[in-house]
Amino acid sequence: MPSLQSFSTFGLNASCNAIERFSDVQTFLSLYDKNKTTYLLGGGSNTIFADDFNGTILLNQIKGISHYDTEEYHFLRVGAGENWHEFVSLCMQEKWYGLENLALIPGSVGACPIQNIGAYGREVNAFIDTVEVVLLETGKQVNISNEQCEFGYRDSVFKNALANKVLITHVNFKLPKNIQPETTYGELQALPSPTPEAIYDKVIEIRKSKLPDPAKLGNAGSFFKNPIISRSQFENIAKEYEVVPHFDVKDKDRDAIKVKVPAAWLIDKAGFKGKTLNGVRCHPTQPLVLTNIGGATGSDILTMARDIIASVQEKFGVALEPEVRLLGNKGLISL
Ligand code: FAD
Ligand code: EPU
Repeated sequence: MPSLQSFSTFGLNASCNAIERFSDVQTFLSLYDKNKTTYLLGGGSNTIFADDFNGTILLNQIKGISHYDTEEYHFLRVGAGENWHEFVSLCMQEKWYGLENLALIPGSVGACPIQNIGAYGREVNAFIDTVEVVLLETGKQVNISNEQCEFGYRDSVFKNALANKVLITHVNFKLPKNIQPETTYGELQALPSPTPEAIYDKVIEIRKSKLPDPAKLGNAGSFFKNPIISRSQFENIAKEYEVVPHFDVKDKDRDAIKVKVPAAWLIDKAGFKGKTLNGVRCHPTQPLVLTNIGGATGSDILTMARDIIASVQEKFGVALEPEVRLLGNKGLISL
């Protein structure tokens, strides 16, 4: 039974029946059997193996980056198995700008459209032209347009209608040549000269100061999504506190204004910051991140996560939803 410990940045000691690697579509199709339990894996930075997995891990290693230019855009076709941060660094070297706010996010290029990765004022959907996929049911290769991806905050068609129905093989990016730097996030506003290179360096510096390095301390980044609540729910919370950090956001279905409240603040105020349960700790400088301080088990994580959800629900009436994928014995599990 191969170990999955080094295949997920959280680093739990779980196993699976087999790990199969593929670096092209043909090999993938020869390995994939829709009647068997399988799980597609990239860099494992958003996946926590909470139990031994009774199935096969299919590890995507499709590589390759090609590019062409038009007068207005750089077009890039990137293999889903390329490392995200290495790709962003290459773009900086080549002066293909736009992705600098998304530097140092772990994981693969293929996973970036799935939760529409975002950080420091940018989300990747602003730069995605199309996503190339294989439909698992038929083996047919299809190109999905940006619009068809139905991107939202930490959301896309790949988490909804197409969840577990496709292999992403390539992502096609379209980077405008006249891109304006994005510096609305607090610490980026103070940059004296906001060149793409300065933003890239600053984002890396902020991330290193706030977020634990998975190579040193197992974690999967933000464990929960930042909840988006109604104005009246927000005002109820605001009655009790002098300052509640928040951002107004447009409701994607209706035109109403809703409010995004940092889950880190809710978890902090619910008293979990720095709290430890056996091998799991709620990170002392960023309580939205749970870490594996050594020997954590799936049950420790599930218990801690469920305690946090129950406390935040009781104290604020807000339902936290996990951002991470939790994998159990037979497949994905919900909290
Ligand atoms: P995996 O964990 O391997 O997979 C994630 C999901 O995608 C799984 O459901 C998997 O089945 C599916 N999948 C993977 N590859 C494919 C494919 N080719 N085809 C079909 N399905 C596939 N995220 C952010 O948005 N912003 C951040 O700032 C951020 N910071 C982070 C910081 C740290 C320290 C860590 C550990 C994580 C952070 N994350 C962040 C989360 C994570 O990096 C992203 O979600 C990333 O895109 C996951 O990539 P991965 O390849 O590791 O995904
Ligand atoms: N906060 C506290 N207590 C703390 C720390 C933070 O109350 O101890 C509050 C502060 O009010 C702070 C706020 O939380 O202003 C937000 O913190 P931060 O700017 O660090 O970001 P976040 O909202 O917690 C989100 C993303 C991150 C992304 C950063 C930067 C989600 C779920 N998380 O975190 O993405 O890197 O913004 O843009 O949206 C990830 O998805 O894995 C991830 C790390």
